[in-house]
This record gives sequence, C-alpha cells and structure tokens, in this order.
Amino acid sequence: MNPTIVSRFRRGASFTGEHLDLSGTVVQLKALTPGQGAALKLLSDGDRDDTELAAAVTALDGETGLLRWHMLFRGLNVSGLIEHAVRVTGEADETGRAGEAGRAGEAGEITGITARLRLVGRGTTLLAPAPAGPARLSRFAEARVVDGTLTLQAPGRHLAVELAPRAAGLLGELANWSTGVPAPVLRLLATAGLLAPGGPEDDVETTERSHAQWHPGDLAFHARTRTPASAPGYGGTHPLGDRFPPEPVSPPPAGTRTVALPVPDLERIAAADPSLTEVLERRRSIRAHDTEAPITLDQLGELLYRSLRRRGTMTGSDGQELADRPYPSGGAVHELEVYPLVTACEGVPAGLWHYATDRHELELVAEPCKATAALVSEARGAAMLEADPQVVLLVAARFGRVMWKYETVAYPLVLKHVGVLYQTLYLVATAMNLAVCGLGGGDSAAFATASGRDPLLEGTVGELVLGSRPRMEG
Ligand SMILES: Cc1cc2nc3c(=O)[nH]c(=O)nc-3n(C[C@H](O)[C@H](O)[C@H](O)COP(=O)(O)O)c2cc1C
Repeated sequence: MNPTIVSRFRRGASFTGEHLDLSGTVVQLKALTPGQGAALKLLSDGDRDDTELAAAVTALDGETGLLRWHMLFRGLNVSGLIEHAVRVTGEADETGRAGEAGRAGEAGEITGITARLRLVGRGTTLLAPAPAGPARLSRFAEARVVDGTLTLQAPGRHLAVELAPRAAGLLGELANWSTGVPAPVLRLLATAGLLAPGGPEDDVETTERSHAQWHPGDLAFHARTRTPASAPGYGGTHPLGDRFPPEPVSPPPAGTRTVALPVPDLERIAAADPSLTEVLERRRSIRAHDTEAPITLDQLGELLYRSLRRRGTMTGSDGQELADRPYPSGGAVHELEVYPLVTACEGVPAGLWHYATDRHELELVAEPCKATAALVSEARGAAMLEADPQVVLLVAARFGRVMWKYETVAYPLVLKHVGVLYQTLYLVATAMNLAVCGLGGGDSAAFATASGRDPLLEGTVGELVLGSRPRMEG
C-alpha cells in the first residue's frame, strides 16, 4: 500500500484548455504557459499527484516553470477550487475493492481513492500538515451519509472528508490517540479540523473550558446556524420549494368540539391598561395560582387574543401564505400554535385545547387522559408548583412552515419566536394581573401522545404555566 495525496478541480470547476469554467461562469487565466495549461488540463481530467503535475509542467516549460506552477496551484487552493484525496495503490481488500473508483492496475494491483477532502462551504483548500505525534478524531466530528457517501465534518468548518468503505475502519482506529493512520489521511482530516487539538497528555477538548462546556450536538447546531461559510443555505432558500407545496397558514381543524372565545374590547382595554413601563417593572414569574378563583374563559380568551390572534393574512412573493399577529415572526411565517392544557378554568372544560388564531376559538384536541396528566405533572414539577397549574400553555411549532422556506436559520428562528411569544404572553398576563411563568423544558413525545400529532411535523418547543394570581401576591 502506498497512500499518496492527489488533487483535482473541485466539483463544478473545470479547465477547458482556454479558461476556467466555474459552474457556468467563465474565468480567464492570464498569460498561462503551455506547461501550466497542460497541468490544469490534467487536474480537470481527474486526480493527479504532485509528480504527475510537475512532469507535465517541466516537459513544456522546463524546470524553471515549476516555481510559477506552484504559485498558480497555491492560488487555486486559496480560491477553494481544488479537491485533495488519498490514493492507494496495492492489493485488493477482501471485498476486492480499493475504495471509490477502484480500478485494476499492473499485475492485479488496485488503485483507488480512500478519502477525499471536499469543499462544502466557502474557504481555501490549502492542505495543513499531518500532526507530528499521535492523532485522535475530535469529539465534535460528525459522520453523516451524504449522497451515499460516509462524510465527516467538524462544526463551523467549510471542508468535509468523504471516506470510501475500506477507509471507514480508520474512524475506529482514531477513536483514541493513535499513530496507526497514514500521514496523507491525517493531513486531510487535519485540514478539515477533524482531529482533536493537543495530544494524549494534553487533551484540550476535555481540559479546556472553551471546548469541554460544549456538547457535540449543541456545537454542531450552533456552528451550522451561525457560520454561513461552513454551511450554504442562509436565508430564504426554499429547499423544499420544488418538491412540496407550502403549508397553509391555518392548520387543519383540530376537532368538532369548540368553545367560542369572547372578543375583547381593545379600546376599553387600552384606556384602562397600566403603562408599558409599569408592566415591565411589575413583570415577575409567578409560581402559584388562586385555587379559590381560577382563571376564567374571558381572561384566557383576552390573553390569547391580545398576544397571538391572527390580525391578517397575506401571500408572500414565493406563494406561501403569511400571517400578521401581535408578536413578530421571521418572514411572517408564524409557525407557532398554542395548546392550552386546562385543569381549572371557569367556563372551559378540562382537556387539551388548540387555540385557533384566525377564528379566536378553542378546539378540543384531547379529553383529560394519562398523556395529558403526564404533561400537567411535568409542568407542575418544572415550575415547582404546590398544586396542578390551572392552565399549561403548550407552544408547538408547525416545522414545515419555516423549513419549507429556510434551511440553516429554520430551527433557530423557531426558538427565537418562542422567546418573543413568551415575552408577549408575560407582558399581557402582567397587564391583566394573571400569574404566568415560562418553563425551560418539556416533553414533546408526551405532547405527541396526547395530541396525536406527528412530532416531525408539529412538536412542542415551549411551555408556560398560567393561572389566576394569588391574592396575597403583589
Ligand atoms: C425561557 C425561560 C425558561 C424558564 N424556565 C423556568 C422553569 O423551567 N421553571 C421555573 O420555575 N421558572 C422558569 N423560568 C422563569 C425564570 O426562573 C425567571 O424568569 C427568573 O427566575 C427571573 O425571575 P422573574 O421572571 O420573576 O424576573 C423561565 C423563564 C424563561 C424566560
């Protein structure tokens, strides 16, 4: 086995013999020498090692052409136009394969690519050196199947490493500090930021606070959504636009049993409301409810109406129906739905209800049952309440509303919307002298059981406990 690094133009880039073609964009390279042109053609045709490229240059330009070729090749790497790979030449493995593009060479030898470094974001493709001592895979490295190929990426990095089946065993070898992995493979992994910093005696990922405090899942999510250079798809890219229609602004009706909510008189409310400053200064999380006088249907209706009723419906330029509610929403997609889970509310029977923002009514989703009791008990525990909360406001997201339009910002938008809805509910509840407390966690599996909703289509992302304010408070 003789692993060597080979290079070629990245996917979407090629040299026609006259100019560079970058996914249809023509880039002229000025004053190319015949040797440079020949080497670029080789890179365009497939994987070549340094020796093959240098031979093409020197055959036409002489030895003196090499320096200028190296400068040109470096420029192509700085522009992120090259893909590097590890090519092995040797005996076939027991499966008879050498890896991607394995092909028979001399006397039964097999040549194949076992690992390939590819650009997945924006940045250079300059190779880093292989580590001098033992190497280990970063605990933040993520392995995914992309278009049928095992692909490794580190959070926030613009390069990924694809592994052929015969090289997948290297991942097991690199689960701990090892010197058993060929240097060319380590170079690719190091360039993609996939190797742990430090060494066996200095394991930075566990000893340094900056690394130790991150769970790999959280860092991957943070990096994907906050480092556009590492993941294309920022903004409204409509990833599902040509495969699925947008989801309508109104969810399908939840059930046949409904409770109409009175429409509050906003003029009268505006005249009687405390000032914004007073509300902000008075706002507190209140973790007790007045059991003698539970919250009423009128109060629940007023809170929901003032916080999240639909004030209008529009259609976006992409054809997606949009909504206007009192609180803001990225792209006006308004994917959040509120499900009041009632245990004690005068005028509303106990059960899991859905608030229809357009019709300002409650729709019964589930009668009280084991699953709703579990949700109540969970909220009671999270808020450290001495009795069951009168109402739990379960906040669910219809993920397709955001994910049809957005990619990398889709889920973060949902969480931001939960934040603005929390604050809106807090402020309106405070103005109404109700007791509200936001919760930091919940169980979307329990909500799926109680509601019958497919958790991949609609799941809870927030919850608040709500009730009448105890008289001794404030
Ligand atoms: C996103 C969020 C999550 C929260 N999670 C909980 C929780 O799980 N349990 C709880 O008792 N209070 C929770 N709270 C309330 C905070 O503990 C409370 O806001 C904080 O102690 C400050 O008190 P104040 O709201 O009265 O100003 C949460 C508040 C927010 C905004």
